[in-house]
Amino acid sequence: MKYDLILENIGQLLTMDYEKGGPLCGKDMDQLLVLENKALAIADGRIALIGSNEDASGWPADKRIDCGGKLVTPGLIDPHTHLVFAGSREHEMGLKQKGVPYLEILKQGGGILSTVNATRAASEAALFEKAAYHLDRMLSYGMTTVEAKSGYGLNAETELKQLRAVKKLNNEHPVEIVSTFLGAHAIPPEYKHQPEVFLNEMLQLLDVIQKEELAQFVDIFCETGVFTIEQSKAFLSKAKQKGFQLKIHADEIDPLGGAELASELGAISAEHLVGASEEGIKQLAASGVIACLLPGTSFYLNKPDHAKARKMLEEGVAVTLATDFNPGSCPTENLQLIMSFAAVMYKMTVKEIWNAVTVNAAHAIGLGDERGVIAPMKQADLVIWDAVNYEYIPYHFGVNHTQTVIKKGVIVFEKGDHREQSAFSFT
Ligand code: NIG
Ligand code: FE
Repeated sequence: MKYDLILENIGQLLTMDYEKGGPLCGKDMDQLLVLENKALAIADGRIALIGSNEDASGWPADKRIDCGGKLVTPGLIDPHTHLVFAGSREHEMGLKQKGVPYLEILKQGGGILSTVNATRAASEAALFEKAAYHLDRMLSYGMTTVEAKSGYGLNAETELKQLRAVKKLNNEHPVEIVSTFLGAHAIPPEYKHQPEVFLNEMLQLLDVIQKEELAQFVDIFCETGVFTIEQSKAFLSKAKQKGFQLKIHADEIDPLGGAELASELGAISAEHLVGASEEGIKQLAASGVIACLLPGTSFYLNKPDHAKARKMLEEGVAVTLATDFNPGSCPTENLQLIMSFAAVMYKMTVKEIWNAVTVNAAHAIGLGDERGVIAPMKQADLVIWDAVNYEYIPYHFGVNHTQTVIKKGVIVFEKGDHREQSAFSFT
């Protein structure tokens, strides 16, 4: 058999311990399977063979890459992004510095609502182009699969416009996207005093979302001044009845009991969890809901409290990490930076961090059987790093260590590739 591509002379190969299954929790999160001096063959977009570097010289192939003793890992997976929106919000930086809270900016019609205005005014084509730009950058950071949430439309037309842009991107861009409907991201001004009427309007969209296969997950921002626990419960329960899997922006700023709600409803993941209670953490562990932690957001909102990652890990919660890429609370596409934040702010071990952004991230977006590991027959989503060991990536922070990115067996990014477009070419 002739292989399509061979990676040889791999220094460290982080296969992740696929035989354990997942999501990983407790002590399992602090273990990695690291193979040394290996080679790997790819055929038809999948891993065909893993063997010793010596054996690989006898494997026939169309193309070979000499990894030069460097690190090879699964492609990074980002399970929480707000990828599609128009405009930007750099003017909020000064407000934040003056101490105006994030929720106060929202209350005054800024924040999420200012991005909603820009997104409503943008065409689907413009949203597609801008999201593709951000997705290119994610790819350059070694991310091969991401989740993308809607939620900057807050009306039928614009929510569907965002979701359709995601669907088209998923068909046309090498990075794979799983889609989440977050129509319940904020209360739009036209429904300021009628949040339930607004939520019902968003629920009306579920049929068309299902028919056009526009999203697999439904999410809600359960927060003071946004949606209450009761409203969130009613909304998510209806989405569940329709057959959607659930995510929830839970206890991001105020501890409302979002972790408990996610556990009660059997959500696939609960996100943020900065204010999650001890009881909520215990319930996440018992119910198997994955905790999706977003340290970049705590950093950027400059909050004194961080998600209690160590407590969650001790209690046996499966933890994943994500960028939360969005124009307000965390404008970065760099998941490598988030890995560094998790090391410093959460004191997660480097092994826990790698499991969080591969195996557990795949499980948090419903792709646990197929992504996030390197094993025979799995899809060949790989990163060759400009580093010789896995500890180096979160250690040397704020810069990009990607050398080559492979998606479905095809080289889709190489160091030195650059985008032609300017960030300011978008409305
Ligand atoms: O996850 N919390 C709600 N949504 C985003 C922020 C969105 C925005 O500020 O535009 C988050 O932090
Ligand atoms: Fe978010």
